[in-house]
Amino acid sequence: MSISIPRGTQDILPGNIELWQQIESKARELCANYQYHEIRTPIFEHTELFARGVGDTTDIVQKEMYTFEDRGGRSITLRPEGTAPVVRAFVEKKMFGVANQPVKLYYMGPMFRYERPQSGRFRQFVQFGVEALGSNDPAIDAEVISLAMNLYKQMGLRRLKLIINSLGDKESRQAHRDALISHFKPRIGEFCRDCQTRLEKNPLRILDCKQDRDHELMKTAPAIIDYLNDESKAYFEKVQKHLTALNIEFEVDANLVRGLDYYNHTAFEIMSDAEGFGAITTLCGGGRYNGLAEELGGPETPGIGFALSIERLIAALNAEGIGTETHEQIDCYIAALGEEARDYSVGLLQQLRLAGISAEKDYLNRKIKAQFKAADRLHARVVAVLGDEELQNNVINVKDMSTGEQIEVSLDSFVPYLQKLQSKGGN
Ligand code: HAM
Repeated sequence: MSISIPRGTQDILPGNIELWQQIESKARELCANYQYHEIRTPIFEHTELFARGVGDTTDIVQKEMYTFEDRGGRSITLRPEGTAPVVRAFVEKKMFGVANQPVKLYYMGPMFRYERPQSGRFRQFVQFGVEALGSNDPAIDAEVISLAMNLYKQMGLRRLKLIINSLGDKESRQAHRDALISHFKPRIGEFCRDCQTRLEKNPLRILDCKQDRDHELMKTAPAIIDYLNDESKAYFEKVQKHLTALNIEFEVDANLVRGLDYYNHTAFEIMSDAEGFGAITTLCGGGRYNGLAEELGGPETPGIGFALSIERLIAALNAEGIGTETHEQIDCYIAALGEEARDYSVGLLQQLRLAGISAEKDYLNRKIKAQFKAADRLHARVVAVLGDEELQNNVINVKDMSTGEQIEVSLDSFVPYLQKLQSKGGN
């Protein structure tokens, strides 16, 4: 019986991986320009990190985590997101003490959520995310948002929609919380069991309940934006002013609450409105989380960031019909004929590769015609033919595949000859 891939995961094969690599290098390039530095944290963490960081009333913690006990009896969880781990590392490694503040970090790697797989929703997916820790300047909120928007724009996406909201500071959130409880309490019996426990524990979570989303009380629920105090309002206005100055279009959506508990002040999502993108239109989500470092045992530190999945970015590229061409080429294909020449070509190939020349040879004992075909498929710039006779004369026959020109080169000058060609071709 053959074994198949687990549900909600995917193999990314050569032919598709090139686009991934292109996106990854574009993200790294942008991060270098914006001065965000890479951080790599473990794939698994103590379960408590997410229970405390993401929030134990969230869907992620209650329903979606891959949690297991390790052989030492500790509860371990495959990371469902990157913010809590990054802030854990920030606190643990005392990065609040480094000279360069704010600390601007980025990460790229697999995340795991036990969700119902569908188009754009995987159980293992790759997030690219950034976190800026240590600044309370609304300009950094705009910087973080602009980084995400520019990655999408530079990849060619046009059908983007940025929605923002403010969840306010502690005081505003408390006022909103009270209003939510009064709003839902009289009729909480009509809601699902989860919502009933959410009412006292975390009434904000009721607003993103998938089961009860059509209940009439949902539409009339108090919006956080109406409960912002002056300070929170001023902060939100400044963020909007910066976005406008950066020419980033946005819409304020008072219903945007996000599914993780650590947010306050700015919250945002970037959506795709391309036709055929499917039901899940969110490409990227993020926001400010000023209390998280403290929650995880560190000093009070403001923070803001976002995460996006490469899978959804690729889906959006497909929905907008944006093709990405790759021009894979190799410098040289060695076509060897006869046993002695074939044996010799093994060492020659290594010489080329170590000299910085991309090269390949035949390993299937094919005839010369088939070797030329193989070279064509690899888009070889030259094919170097080595027969036993050439070997005796210490030469190799180099054919330029674009012009058809052939030239005999001594084996001693073969490497420098190809290097010269390579520098001319700008490869
Ligand atoms: P999130 O909204 O849970 O936020 O996820 C962010 C992004 O990850 C989503 O917008 C989507 O692109 C992608 N994503 C989430 N779940 C899946 C899935 N099952 N399959 C494919 N893609 C998925 C966070 O994770 C926060 N840590 C973001 C953040 C960073 N906030 C502040 N800093």
